[in-house]
Amino acid sequence: MCGIIGVVGRGEVQSSLLDALKRMEYRGYDSAGICVRNSGFLTCRKEAGKLFNLEQSLAKSPLAGSAGIGHTRWATHGIPSRENAHPHLGAGVAVVHNGIIENHESLRKKLIADGVNFQSETDSEVIPLLLSTELGAAEFGTVEMAEAWQCTVEQLEGTYAIVALRAKGDDCLWFARRGSPLLLGRGAAGVYAASDALALAGLADEVLYLEDGDIGCISLSNVEIHQHGAQVERCWQSMPVSEQSSGKAGFDHFMQKEIFEQPRVIADILNAYVQGVDITFPEASLLDDAVLPNRIVMVACGTSYHAALTARYWLERYLQVSVEVDVASEYRYRNPVIGPDTWLITLSQSGETADTLEALRLFKSNTPDNLALTLCNVPESSLARESDGTIPLLAGVEVGVASTKAYTAQLAVLALLVLKIAYECRVMSEADTKRHLAAMRQVVDGMHVLLGHADQVQALTPLFDDIHGALFLGRGPCFPLALEGALKLKEISYLHAEGYAAGEMKHGPIALIDSRLPVVVLAARKYHLQKVLSNLREVQARGAKVILLTDMADQDIPDNVDAVIPLPEGDSFTTPLFAAIPLQFLAYYVARSRGTDVDQPRNLAKSVTVE
Ligand code: G6P
Repeated sequence: MCGIIGVVGRGEVQSSLLDALKRMEYRGYDSAGICVRNSGFLTCRKEAGKLFNLEQSLAKSPLAGSAGIGHTRWATHGIPSRENAHPHLGAGVAVVHNGIIENHESLRKKLIADGVNFQSETDSEVIPLLLSTELGAAEFGTVEMAEAWQCTVEQLEGTYAIVALRAKGDDCLWFARRGSPLLLGRGAAGVYAASDALALAGLADEVLYLEDGDIGCISLSNVEIHQHGAQVERCWQSMPVSEQSSGKAGFDHFMQKEIFEQPRVIADILNAYVQGVDITFPEASLLDDAVLPNRIVMVACGTSYHAALTARYWLERYLQVSVEVDVASEYRYRNPVIGPDTWLITLSQSGETADTLEALRLFKSNTPDNLALTLCNVPESSLARESDGTIPLLAGVEVGVASTKAYTAQLAVLALLVLKIAYECRVMSEADTKRHLAAMRQVVDGMHVLLGHADQVQALTPLFDDIHGALFLGRGPCFPLALEGALKLKEISYLHAEGYAAGEMKHGPIALIDSRLPVVVLAARKYHLQKVLSNLREVQARGAKVILLTDMADQDIPDNVDAVIPLPEGDSFTTPLFAAIPLQFLAYYVARSRGTDVDQPRNLAKSVTVE
């Protein structure tokens, strides 16, 4: 969702602003803009649509200046248009905002009553207009600005990451954070404020993650951060993302690159966390000598939720523990009964998903003594910082909006987590643990084999021409895989697709089946194979084209299946890891054949920082 950048440079800043905005395109947006300060004047340039439009406009008439702010907007209040794009201006100030100002209506009414004019329909525009009202017309110095800034921010309810720039009076970026991500950066060419570290790849050498409630300013010579009225020190750390690791590395799309990175990610996870039969998660050492809780609650959104659903099968089967899995947006509002002796496991690629974060906060405020773990790909994220322990996913930067390698990393880490707890709690023997770990080590090679079948999957795209939808079916841990396969297809090809528990098909989706509804069937030897094959025959009998993903031997494969994608033979932990790859390829190639924007599909955001 919205991406924020602010730069105070040692030279011109337009190109740094654009670079940073490009690196945040993956977050999802529908308009963009920058504002640059030059000789005491602020000049904005904004365009609806892709960044390309803004770049074209700036190429025709560049904006000179050594300080500026920029924004990619994902519309919440008001349509995607030039007027609603950020930055927004007040008298002598410009502001970019990510989040939602919940009391914007009442603030707007008050400002209008005071004679202030609005130019946009956004909630965000109240911020610069409040700020300029607080500042008054005069040109005050930094001290007065600090007061006006504090006063403005105090009036805001909701969530925000805000960066403000003044036309005159100081050389600072003014910032405030509550609920939406924001970090500061510094490097040879300037100082920065940005929504994520990726935005600053190639610009900053060090970053500082702001905490919720932080407010302050940064200039080339100074940084000041306040929390509850008192000055606080925060740590600078070296830049976690290199410019190189954030590129496409010769692939056509980030998603394609990320699909191909999966064997390396799994190898990194195994190397980092497994030594012989010992599984160690350095940042969650509180799991060493763990005693099995009464109940485990897993909460996540989107693809991360699907990883949690698969893990439920493993946790219940091997640990015999009661497991509840929910999407964060429901969990946080349904007054969940948490009770003692319960662990929370949140899963998130970004660690900034607003609902997941609020679910964690709800859990911790209700039962502070219960353990809250997160499996997260960004160890510096809010979710990681607020959890009792973090297991980093080690997937590296994921840029494609549709999650791929972070998903298989979640599955791999979850499998290791189950094996670790099962072994330590003595519910799994050493021999069985070794056997499962040996199977996990086979995943790297198996994934390489599957990546070699990309062309075979691409050849299936005609089956998705002229269809009215697609159905994905599976049982057991392959049921969440079916959900994930459908979600991937839907997200990037804009085709309607549904994932269903194969046994539930007769209770609805069967009515949709005809020759224009391709059905992808996930049939694994380990998971109720014969029952899935019965469902497959029911689908065939109604004229659907069937694509079968299976680890069955060739001779056992049913006749008249339209396409078979062979999977390496897996054990109960590894089959989902294998099945993910052809499902990702299927979505990817169908999307390509339909000419959609694979890496930045319409309306979607990578990091959903508002609820
Ligand atoms: C968005 C993304 C998905 C992601 C979901 C949860 O919808 O487009 O790819 O699975 O958010 O995000 P998280 O960062 O919490 O895993």
